[in-house]
Amino acid sequence: MAETRAVGFLCNWCSYVGADLAGTSRLPVPANISFVRVPCSGRVDPLMVVRAFQGGADGVLVLGCHPGDCHYRDGNYYARRRFALMHRFLEFLGIEPERFRLDWVSAAEGDRFSRITREFTDAVERLGPLELPWARGAKWVGEATGQRVVSTGQRMTESPSLLATQSALRETARRLLAEDRVDVFIGYEMGPRGATRPAFLYEPEEAERLVWNTACTHNLTRYLRDKSRPARRGEPPPRIGLVVKACDARSLNLLLHDDQIERERITVVGVVCDGMRQGAGFPADRLSDEMQSRCQDCTERVPVLYDELIGEPQSVEGVSGLDEVAALEALPVAERRAFWAAEFDRCLLCYACRQACPLCYCAECLAEQLGPPWEDIAIRRPEKAFFHIMRAYHLAGRCVGCNECARACPMGIRLDLLNLKIAKEAEALFGYRAGEAVDALPVLATFKVEEGVLTR
Ligand code: FES
Repeated sequence: MAETRAVGFLCNWCSYVGADLAGTSRLPVPANISFVRVPCSGRVDPLMVVRAFQGGADGVLVLGCHPGDCHYRDGNYYARRRFALMHRFLEFLGIEPERFRLDWVSAAEGDRFSRITREFTDAVERLGPLELPWARGAKWVGEATGQRVVSTGQRMTESPSLLATQSALRETARRLLAEDRVDVFIGYEMGPRGATRPAFLYEPEEAERLVWNTACTHNLTRYLRDKSRPARRGEPPPRIGLVVKACDARSLNLLLHDDQIERERITVVGVVCDGMRQGAGFPADRLSDEMQSRCQDCTERVPVLYDELIGEPQSVEGVSGLDEVAALEALPVAERRAFWAAEFDRCLLCYACRQACPLCYCAECLAEQLGPPWEDIAIRRPEKAFFHIMRAYHLAGRCVGCNECARACPMGIRLDLLNLKIAKEAEALFGYRAGEAVDALPVLATFKVEEGVLTR
């Protein structure tokens, strides 16, 4: 049997003392697991687990104090949530669930420490070495898969109500600018090559440029932060009129929650949306007449937040025919691993995904903190994989599924599936949907004491 290596993160106050007790009691502890002492299980960022796998670990174990006994009161409750989500995400990336475990060992439980470490390393040994294609030093001989255009089967037609919405939008923009209620109005217009693109209007006469069609896919909340700075020093930041669809409005809620924008400076013009086409945002020759899969399952056509609403509120049934996440989940784990290795391998590290995302607003991205500042993030496969995993995880509970990242990616990497998977698990495990209310705490910033151990 090939040799395996595992890493264990032990909380200083309970599990590490439990490990000591196992040693002084001469209880057996496997030799192929190395331990790292940490202040608390809550200190273990799930990305440290990803780093351990990337560095060649075949299994990762995290041990903390029993729930209710954390030296810092809540650290292990937060850890429990984070790792429940990360555990399912790792499986989606092609890492068998048995390769990760979160458990509790108190200072008096040397025998429990011995048993858990043996159980864990036995399970990892049964699976064998991980052979992660994006581990450091791994030789990857797979093929890049190229962009998949998936047929949703649902055709879109340009309904007459679109024209009525367009007229109402123009009228609203003209009125808001003429009454000096906004300094800039952000909506959509046609570009010179027939692509629908964001439009920035400053005068009422410009309102005729606005359009509304089934290619208005851009999440315009992305531009709020750019426009939140004053044009000249000493002037107040501009007041903004903004067109939002239902999914965009949820990112607005998240930006408000994170204090990234000031509500009183924004006039939100909500539009009832019937879904967008595949290929939206590209020139007309790349526009398909099929609906985007995210819109196909969407039942929420009216924005949760608006000052003025255009269109008739209506209830819509999701079609729920195409679940690409479920299709990927159904693959054998090795195939899923290969799928993601091929996807990550195509990345150019152009960061278009990060630039397009309304919720990626950190002044300095963690990706830039990985190495010395003069080096930037290295264009190596392990770092490309880590960048996308890190980004998806940082968006846990914050991604609203607008898919701007995947649309912006020049290599067609299925970043939307990473975000969708996390959103799906956050809803299944904790009943959380990103951005539904402005005062809702992000899913990983809270916990419930009664949640059980969720990683086994
Ligand atoms: Fe042990 Fe927090 S101190 S889990």
